[in-house]
Amino acid sequence: PFAVHLSGTKYGCGVGGCGACTVMLSTYDPIAKKIRHHPANSCLLPISSLHGAAVTTVEGVGSIKNRINPIQERLAKCHGSQCGFCTPGMVMSIYALLRNHVKPSMEQIISALDGNLCRCTGYRPIIDSYASFAKQTCCQLRGTGQCCLDQEELGCSSSAGVRVVIKLFILTFLKTYKSLSFPPQRIVQEQQRKTLIFCSKRTTWISPSTLKELLELKAKYPKAPLVVGNTSLGLKKNDCDAYHPVILHPLRIPEMQVFSITDDGAACCLAQLRDILMETIPKLPEEKTKIYQALLQQLRTLAGEQIRSMASLGGHVVSRGSAWDLNPILSAGKSVLNLASDGGKRQIFLNDQFLAGHKHADIEPKEVIVSVLIPYSTKDEFISAFRQADRQKNAFSIVNAGLRVLFSPGTDTIVDLSILYGGIGSTTLSARKSCEKLIGRQWNDQMLSEACKLVLEEISLPPSASGGKVEYRRTLLVSFLFRFYLEVLHGLHQMIKCVSKAFYNYCSDLKTHSCLQDVDPGQSPQDPVGRPVMHQSGIKHTTGEAVYIDDIRPVDGELSLAVVTSVKAHAKIKSIDISEALQVPGVINVVTAKDVPGKNGNDEEEAFAKDKVICVGQIICAVVAETLTQAKCGAKKVKIAYEDLQPVLTIKDAIKHNSYITKERKLEKGDIEKGFKSADKIIEGELHMGGQEHFYLETNSVLVIPRMEDKEMDVYVSTQHATDVQKLVASALNLQSNKIMCHTKRVGGAFGGKITKPSFFAVIAAVAANKTGRPVRFALERDMDMLITGGRHPFFGKYKVGFMKDGRIMAADFQCYINGGCTKDESELVIEYIVLKVDNAYNIPNLRVRGHACKTNLPSNTAFRGFGFPQAGLFVETCIVAVATKTGLPHEKVREINMYKGVNRTAFKEKFDAENLWKCWKECLVKSDYHSRKTKVEEFNRKNYWKKKGIAIIPMKFSVGFNATYFHQAGALVHIYLDGSVLVTHGGIELGQGIHTKMLQIASRELKIPLSYIHFCETSSTTVPNGKYTAGSVGTEINARAVQDACQILWKRLDPIRRKNPKGKWEDWISEAHKKSISLSATGYFKGYVTDMNWESKKGHAFPYFLYGAACSEVEIDCLTGAHKNIRTDIVMDASFSINPAIDIGQIEGAFIQGVGLYTLEEIYFSPEGEQLTLSPDTYKIPAVCDIPEQFHVYLLPNSCNSIAIYSSKGVGEAGFFLGSSVFFAIRDAVAAARKERGLPLDFTLNSPLTVERIRMACDDIFTKMVTVFPFLFLSLVPLNLHLYEEI
Ligand SMILES: Cc1cc2nc3c(=O)[nH]c(=O)nc-3n(C[C@H](O)[C@H](O)[C@H](O)COP(=O)(O)OP(=O)(O)OC[C@H]3O[C@@H](n4cnc5c(N)ncnc54)[C@H](O)[C@@H]3O)c2cc1C
Ligand code: FES
Ligand code: FES
Repeated sequence: PFAVHLSGTKYGCGVGGCGACTVMLSTYDPIAKKIRHHPANSCLLPISSLHGAAVTTVEGVGSIKNRINPIQERLAKCHGSQCGFCTPGMVMSIYALLRNHVKPSMEQIISALDGNLCRCTGYRPIIDSYASFAKQTCCQLRGTGQCCLDQEELGCSSSAGVRVVIKLFILTFLKTYKSLSFPPQRIVQEQQRKTLIFCSKRTTWISPSTLKELLELKAKYPKAPLVVGNTSLGLKKNDCDAYHPVILHPLRIPEMQVFSITDDGAACCLAQLRDILMETIPKLPEEKTKIYQALLQQLRTLAGEQIRSMASLGGHVVSRGSAWDLNPILSAGKSVLNLASDGGKRQIFLNDQFLAGHKHADIEPKEVIVSVLIPYSTKDEFISAFRQADRQKNAFSIVNAGLRVLFSPGTDTIVDLSILYGGIGSTTLSARKSCEKLIGRQWNDQMLSEACKLVLEEISLPPSASGGKVEYRRTLLVSFLFRFYLEVLHGLHQMIKCVSKAFYNYCSDLKTHSCLQDVDPGQSPQDPVGRPVMHQSGIKHTTGEAVYIDDIRPVDGELSLAVVTSVKAHAKIKSIDISEALQVPGVINVVTAKDVPGKNGNDEEEAFAKDKVICVGQIICAVVAETLTQAKCGAKKVKIAYEDLQPVLTIKDAIKHNSYITKERKLEKGDIEKGFKSADKIIEGELHMGGQEHFYLETNSVLVIPRMEDKEMDVYVSTQHATDVQKLVASALNLQSNKIMCHTKRVGGAFGGKITKPSFFAVIAAVAANKTGRPVRFALERDMDMLITGGRHPFFGKYKVGFMKDGRIMAADFQCYINGGCTKDESELVIEYIVLKVDNAYNIPNLRVRGHACKTNLPSNTAFRGFGFPQAGLFVETCIVAVATKTGLPHEKVREINMYKGVNRTAFKEKFDAENLWKCWKECLVKSDYHSRKTKVEEFNRKNYWKKKGIAIIPMKFSVGFNATYFHQAGALVHIYLDGSVLVTHGGIELGQGIHTKMLQIASRELKIPLSYIHFCETSSTTVPNGKYTAGSVGTEINARAVQDACQILWKRLDPIRRKNPKGKWEDWISEAHKKSISLSATGYFKGYVTDMNWESKKGHAFPYFLYGAACSEVEIDCLTGAHKNIRTDIVMDASFSINPAIDIGQIEGAFIQGVGLYTLEEIYFSPEGEQLTLSPDTYKIPAVCDIPEQFHVYLLPNSCNSIAIYSSKGVGEAGFFLGSSVFFAIRDAVAAARKERGLPLDFTLNSPLTVERIRMACDDIFTKMVTVFPFLFLSLVPLNLHLYEEI
């Protein structure tokens, strides 16, 4: 068979959570005689369900070979891709939207991207590029008042008005571009409506065309599931034991497709339901539509657009997930299920008993739901829905609710009441008894207080309930009830605005602005340095033609590999039984530590656990098979016997057991004791910070191909450190490094997570390839990647700070701990950096810092963007806030008083000038209009009780690079071919940061030839050996120096030729040089910045240079739920002279949003036994489109220079990350405002991440007290002062 190998569609998670696999499905609806286009997650699409459908992948949208689509072109040219792994999915989501709506609204565009995650860009450029398709909008890049759609060019304005133009050809292209049309034969097929049967060895898939037939089949196969969207059932697809002999697919049955506002076919998808509700609600009298409005509200935030377009109403109702959002409201609204079986039809209520699965109220195995009847509401009825999730959109609810009350006509006397909650128990729960008791009561404060008490008694959530967050969830029960109470009151009295609505208008007002820099007016127009040149792979990212490891076509005889990992945190391995695994069809072999011919890992870490496991997720052995499914099934059959040992899991445990990876790192400055003595006051406190998953969109992947000769091996690997891969593979195979050829074309995101870990994955694949003699591919599934690899170090800090009444900090004593996990990895360096960087922007005259890297039985934590600074920075800023709180001074004043001034020295005596720190700070105060907005925030807070705003401005001193010279060395190889074309290679790796683009810009300047002459192929150990890892913000600039060196060597060699023929063309010179036997190939080398750090003397020139910045963020929190929205962020960054401002701004924004993720969203959970529980995008939430600030401005500080780095640039890859903490402190400010109003102490501690749960519980109020301390005092408290109404 001919395999088309359409590799543009990516695989990022396999559970519908990331959107990388988005395709467009087109189906013909024979009833409406219409073709329906919708986005879908291909990872959940059963292939049999596609009969009659047309699937458009990114290759069908446009390609470089044929023609690219404007969607692709705009995204690439607006710098909307970095690593590019998420990009085809982004393109497909917008493509599907535009196929249905030629001129969508901004709201539609944002909601189309709800289900697409990007870990690199920070979303701003993606939104900007797609905003150009929106109704009444042009791209927001220009700000000239003119519409870019009127022009042939799309431009960005710099602050000085110099236009940096990007050619787009928008109008012509849009008009002439033709989308693929729906194949006519599919329409004919659909009209014929035959029953379809697909059989495999194990499963039969039947798609009947009539209801009668479906019912007969259901009678025959009562256990057969009805698969519609497969978004519930499909999640179990990876479980090789979960299989169904027969599957029924009812999507072609007309009765189940009917769609009317009251009677919705059970096979209709949720997006259709939303669309019909949106269309119909405005046409109906408001009183009839209350349940529809509540449903619509939930549908706007439920999942992403792909899932909404696949998931069916029937599937939603029947699968009855505890946190499913529609069921509580459907039930509260008295919906009815129309059932059918071969015995006839009947109706049942979709009530709490159905949802609880009570046998008498449930559907029979032979029955199917044909449609769902959703009744109109009445005048005296009120219905509301609520949900709160970890992230605003595309996240399962933590708790949701559907509430309904019916009043006796014209009164506020309750006739009927329903309250249902999801997310509390294993099914949706009803507070039925409470409701019954409240019938006859009037809708007033006393009723509310009793309702809260009753609900808390009835809806039980024991302290050990699964899912945790018990107090928060209980608080939400009553918070939602209270919000409902307000809404109903509002309805009854028609005199106030409801509190909650503003939160659902989110994202409607996105404004972004990125200020690019001016280049010297005298600079040659051909010279690309300093200009926003598009990412070298930008177009290929958008067309899906950019190749990642898993896109490399299968090679002859290739095997797949799956690993068996430890389920114990600490144990001896007693035995490994592989016999059953070897019986699995397709399994070729099982590889263990015994199969490693050389060294099993490195001095610190084993590749295969041999005698002992030291964390859950440690690799013990690997199964190789013909297919991945077989390998995974084989892996499940390996039996390992353990003997438990005592694990150490937390920092606290490690301190207790004196379990450390390295000895203490310590710095001291001034005289700490004296400092404390001179202080007016001393405070002490603590900060806990959770870790962070890298969540690069491309999981770790490696393809190992043994060559026929001399035991050579090609290793294609997604890594930041090819040299380490080469070294480890060679030593594992007992070979010299010269036999191992490592190749990395590009990496789909890394963020530090692919420095040390990929070498071990490569060893495992190489050992398997060595044992079997066949190529081996090892691409980790998302859950495995998250389980095995570790991430950012969790942090615990203790501080003691002495300060004066005027805010001056006199002395500080810091104790810092990180959880390093089970091996050393980069933990020693991370704790060193924490100690070196903890001062951030502050000159603390007497300072002592001690750092400890704890050794525990968690997966080994590793490098992550910022490398300890995000933890250290948050810690010291927490101290600043504590001082400001104690002194009662404004936070920004305390910051200013303590900031470094002029030329200064760090605690380790490195000299630096703080001038640019102050410039950034002052510029940020001005650009953000900080002082007047702060006044407005205070004004808002005075008027609002349940909502609060907060604002914070944070300064930053970021040290770039490494504290040892040899880390900065780099090599390059530049060839000039006889036609004048140039091939550049170097030791740096493309991680999405645009390193190759900048290298081409540099080669172009140095050789004075256009960019089009220069090509970059791949990073390979065969061309440039011994490359250091691409990290520490310096990857680009050190390799740039090597490329510059090589180019300058070549330019010099061409000197005599050029002088002889100064008017000649480049091609002439090259040809002449060749005739004169001048070598046209040169290696370039950069020795590295001179840095050192002496921990004995505690002195050093630890970092090559510093980079400064400041960020101001404003947020609004909902005190009742803990939800927050990011209103505005202004960043000023001292990037000095940026080689490519578009790329650098992309790095700043991307890092900032990743920082927002660390500080406010991303939370890793472990079981008490040390097993990580957050292993997919379902449970681990990185920022999505809905999390970016509504207004997002990035400015590069003008007139800054850096004599150390090439062309006076600065490395900005990491610095923006810490500025995400401005959101953390803005939230803290808002929480403080709430607490102040409630008379609560202001010296409270907020740990990171500042999740919805932490925010809510910090806004302590009568509701939180109800579920914690004073459950029974509540009755007397409620009527006093509920602050029901507030200005919006
Ligand atoms: C990534 C992701 C995010 C999600 N986010 C949310 C969210 O935020 N909020 C939320 O509420 N939900 C969310 N969901 C869940 C989603 O709403 C449900 O999975 C979906 O509604 C199920 O519909 P389906 O058609 O895909 O069901 P399927 O998986 O096709 O079927 C599920 C079950 O329903 C049965 N069934 C289906 N139709 C019928 C019928 N007509 N009669 C009898 N039995 C039937 C099947 O036999 C099967 O057992 C999410 C799901 C995913 C994958
Ligand atoms: S791979 Fe399908 S949504 Fe992530
Ligand atoms: S560009 Fe979006 S994940 Fe890398």
